[in-house]
Amino acid sequence: MNIEEIRKVASPNVQIASQSHESKKLNLVAPEKSCDFSYAIKNDFPILKNQNIAYLDNGATTQKPVQVINAINEFYKKYNANPHRGAYRLSVEATEAYENTRAKVAKFINAKNAQEIIFSKNATESLNLLAYSYGMENLKKDDEIVISIMEHHSNLVPWQKVTKAIGAKLKYMYINNEFEISDKEIEEKITNKTKIVGITHVSNALGTINDVKKIIKYAHKKGAIVIVDASQSIPHMRIDVQDLDADFLIFSGHKMLAPLGVGVLYGKRELLNKMTPFLMGGDMIEYVYEQDTTFASLPNKFEAGTQNAEGVIGLGSAIDYIENLGYDTIQQIEKEVVDYAIDELSKLDYLELYVTPNRENHSSVISFNMKGVHPHDIASILDSNGVCVRSGNHCAQPLMRYLGIDSTCRASFNFYNTKEDVDRLINALNKAYNMFKKYIERN
Ligand SMILES: Cc1ncc(COP(=O)(O)O)c(C=O)c1O
Repeated sequence: MNIEEIRKVASPNVQIASQSHESKKLNLVAPEKSCDFSYAIKNDFPILKNQNIAYLDNGATTQKPVQVINAINEFYKKYNANPHRGAYRLSVEATEAYENTRAKVAKFINAKNAQEIIFSKNATESLNLLAYSYGMENLKKDDEIVISIMEHHSNLVPWQKVTKAIGAKLKYMYINNEFEISDKEIEEKITNKTKIVGITHVSNALGTINDVKKIIKYAHKKGAIVIVDASQSIPHMRIDVQDLDADFLIFSGHKMLAPLGVGVLYGKRELLNKMTPFLMGGDMIEYVYEQDTTFASLPNKFEAGTQNAEGVIGLGSAIDYIENLGYDTIQQIEKEVVDYAIDELSKLDYLELYVTPNRENHSSVISFNMKGVHPHDIASILDSNGVCVRSGNHCAQPLMRYLGIDSTCRASFNFYNTKEDVDRLINALNKAYNMFKKYIERN
């Protein structure tokens, strides 16, 4: 979306300052009708522009703007080669683009150094790397790992594996009736025995924003390191790893406009330096002898084999897109649309909502159930009305069990969603309710 296009759709209340800034940053000042922006922004997303759908499954993956698609196209058309593998021009260009993105990611999350950024396949691989290269090597029998009950399986199953192998304990911080982790719970569960705390910044099933800064401060007092799963927060809010003082922070690119198949692991350099590699093979070595190997320095020692260069380059372009739009604008748009969605969904007395009442602690995910009807049935009816939502346990089975349910419908929003998308969701839900009404009343 260029400035002229935004100008055409922006409300008169929105002032847009044209600039000759290199990054073509859009200076969007206090949009009072932020939905207008979302309508304009949708034009950047070919799937949203060309298909008559309300895409509300952004927690699973986001749609990709044309800028990201073009960046990938350009890579293959103009400088496709294996980064770090050749001295010829194409490989040098591919290496530069790959490494420039590493520096861009470092800046994006305010890491001290680009060497602290490791590219992986996804959030899951980043977490497995930590489980094997940090967990397996630093834990002893009877040590404790503390995670929350709202973790995605990717930040849970690897820790089961580690604790079982070592004879350590896996403990959970549970949520209260407001779907939040209380201070009391944090202080009861994180003790001097805790060596690792794994916490999701935003719950993918509930949308609760956890106060990770507070958890990190408390865990550090007890001598534990903290791993933050930022998969569901980084698309919606600025992450500053130094301000958080996170020891490790991970996320997937595909939930923040980048292509599938690229993830990030941030780690404090002193911790990453002490860890041994997770995957063995090409490019993570220094010298290889018949019986022994010395490893490359950071970040290469954690990037074995040919990397997903197109994914990394696409991630760089996704970061540009987010930075150009700006988190302030993103939050303004999303708050307006998500608040509207919660208000409208709350009016439907046949629905049960799983949303914290503290709106400032709630992000862009809304889980709900229609009493007496399976979420998969609801999701299929919504789909036949052009509304895409996720249904299931959201890779959070322990959380579902804790809530006494086995699944929910989940509408998850991004900055390109509009109030019109919410209206389509509400209309489709009303249709579904009318179909099931007799059945619900009978039961
Ligand atoms: C909070 C959270 N953590 C981790 C993951 C795993 O991400 P990926 O499947 O990209 O590895 C997800 C995916 O939904 C998630 O929501």
